[in-house]
Amino acid sequence: MTVTVLDTPADVALAVATRVAEAIAGRPSLVLGLPTGNTPIGAYAQLRRLHGEGRADFSRVSTFNLDEFVGVSGHHPGSFRQFMARHLFTGVNIPADRIGFLDGTAGDLEAECRRYDKAIAAAGGVGLQLLGIGANGHIGFNEPADSLIAGTHYARLLESTRRDNALLFEGDASKVPPEALTMGVGSILGSEAILLIATGTAKAACMAGAVNGPVTTRLPASLLQLHRQVEVIVDRAAAAGL
Ligand code: GLP
Repeated sequence: MTVTVLDTPADVALAVATRVAEAIAGRPSLVLGLPTGNTPIGAYAQLRRLHGEGRADFSRVSTFNLDEFVGVSGHHPGSFRQFMARHLFTGVNIPADRIGFLDGTAGDLEAECRRYDKAIAAAGGVGLQLLGIGANGHIGFNEPADSLIAGTHYARLLESTRRDNALLFEGDASKVPPEALTMGVGSILGSEAILLIATGTAKAACMAGAVNGPVTTRLPASLLQLHRQVEVIVDRAAAAGL
């Protein structure tokens, strides 16, 4: 794991976007794994800027998002699909048919998870997986538990995670779906390279555990220590416990 500590969230956003743009320049057909949440919003804005300046061409890039709420269509403003449209997809040139997303309204959720795993494999696997981290150490929607699931699966969200996602649902945690589909920890660890980003004091404790603590399913991000190519980019506040 390499850890880079920068002064501000704006510095983190620029560093992450620069890293992604370099990866795309090195491999134009890169398969990107993408997170939602507040943390990557600045990096996505920087990627839109780089694209606007002709410095990042996504025309051959494919993407797979980590997760989506169950029962929420990709047209719903609270969906992660719409989040990605707002913050990244409408500002860069990723071809629509290269955007991979879980469908939380699929009739057969189990089949939908298998479809997603196959689609990722058919694309050659994820080359660079961007990750945020939940305050409780979750990655994607892999919540702390006694055991974790490797592949894409149906997940129940903890109440704290529903509260953290309330902004997408008019600030009302009770409107946040209690269930989601998410890539599993095996899917995430199957990526060639991982870039974990965190900002703010609320992430200091979970980042300390993720980077320096024991590897435990009680802090899913700690499993990243098992991967050979993980880069961590954090601001000073999130690095306070490192
Ligand atoms: C959400 C997402 C995660 C994300 C995390 C942190 O629940 N499922 O992929 O990394 O929470 O979000 P934020 O960046 O808003 O703190």
